[in-house]
Amino acid sequence: KVVFLNGRFINEDEAMISPFDRGFTFGEGIYEVCISVDGKIVDLEDHLARLDHSLEAAGINPPPERSMLSGLMHDILARNSIENGFVYIQVTPGKTPRNFVALPAERSTLLISTGPAQLEGSKAFKNGMRVQVLPDIRWKRRDIKTTMLMPQVMAKRAALNAGFDDVIFYDDLGITEGSSSNVFMVTADGALVTRPVSHQILSGCTRNTLIELAILNGMTVIERPISHDDLSNAKEIFLTSSTYLVVPVVELEFGEKAITYSCNETKKLQGIYIKYLH
Ligand code: PDD
Repeated sequence: KVVFLNGRFINEDEAMISPFDRGFTFGEGIYEVCISVDGKIVDLEDHLARLDHSLEAAGINPPPERSMLSGLMHDILARNSIENGFVYIQVTPGKTPRNFVALPAERSTLLISTGPAQLEGSKAFKNGMRVQVLPDIRWKRRDIKTTMLMPQVMAKRAALNAGFDDVIFYDDLGITEGSSSNVFMVTADGALVTRPVSHQILSGCTRNTLIELAILNGMTVIERPISHDDLSNAKEIFLTSSTYLVVPVVELEFGEKAITYSCNETKKLQGIYIKYLH
């Protein structure tokens, strides 16, 4: 398999990053995950705009290949013979001495890699997921798509060990998002509710597209936090992300409470989203 690292396409086994890279020493880094469907990268411009936002907010210099990213992403898919899969982009500041505020003298590190993705073929897409609702222990700049992912890894591992498929986080205002997805609720009267974009959640590309598609299809979309009571009254809950697409939550555990959901509206939205992808 071929990856792109700092200006070159190389075999993944030959890819090397300095132990003094601030991505390693300080956990400083941002990333994007896009999907390719039939060779076309979905919502590419939105992902690149979010990459720019993350770089700017984190104070990381854009890599010198910034203006060529779209071409490089298509190139890496072609070189690995992938038409349907994911493309991963990571940028870190590059290397400095171990000093909290040192500014790198050289280029930012850029890694682009690719691999297969199940997308609409996944078990979760077809059958839905069981999720555990846990407190959001992440930082307060969740709009930055940082590689500093320990809270998500820890929460998701704990949930998997307890027999669940994923996690939904909550803070003082209600549900924030999934461990790597946005959360929607379908109300009893068929409206969609999802948390408004702020520093508290990632502005999901799939979320934003789905809102547009739902409105185009005559649905009502309300952007407000989903409260704990809402979870009990909701007709359906679903998750969106580039790799999940639109995944129904069929059962949710919140403290002592277990709630089950139907997924008729979510199935309809899956159909609308799949049509958008192809
Ligand atoms: N995660 N919220 C969080 C915390 C995420 O990590 C993601 C994506 C999303 C959904 O964003 P989008 O629809 O743009 O993919 C929301 C990717 C898929 C990942 O970490 O693998």
